[in-house]
Amino acid sequence: MRKHQCATCASPCAVPRRTAHPTDWKFGLALGAAMSLVLAVAVTALTALMNQAMAAESPGAERQRELTRFVRQECGFCHGLRLTGGLGTPLTAAALAEKPAEALEATILHGRTGTAMPGWAPHLSESDTRWIVSELLKGFPE
Ligand code: HEC
Repeated sequence: MRKHQCATCASPCAVPRRTAHPTDWKFGLALGAAMSLVLAVAVTALTALMNQAMAAESPGAERQRELTRFVRQECGFCHGLRLTGGLGTPLTAAALAEKPAEALEATILHGRTGTAMPGWAPHLSESDTRWIVSELLKGFPE
């Protein structure tokens, strides 16, 4: 490449005349700004993605199988093997149809004081509980 007298280097320079010069402060500033922008956008996008993942998070297929067994065994102990009621009230879709999902979720996570219904927060996450209630309202899977 032909060298020319360069304003930035004040000496013969191989960087073509009309290209931004790496040691040119304006170029550096622009590059810095562009990189910060890219970083900011990436961080924002990532945060948004994580928030979304956390909000929409629903148990995976494996956890759903575990939860199905768990409800049939642990909850069935009181609510009946077919969830049609025993010591605990029936948990069939028909029995729960009129009840708000949030109230049912709260009952499962925190129990009901003064009754035999214990809180399950040590064993179930909020997303587990949301899934269980949505399945109960549809008719719990076998
Ligand atoms: C030790 C017995 C027992 C176990 C185990 C148990 N429950 Fe209960 N549950 C009860 C009783 C008793 C009630 C009724 C409370 C009342 O009288 O308000 C109840 C109420 C509920 C209700 C509210 C129903 C309604 O109609 O408002 C839900 C939902 C529920 N249980 C879900 C579960 C789930 C899910 C599990 C398993 C994770 C579970 N229960 C395990 C005894 C139990």
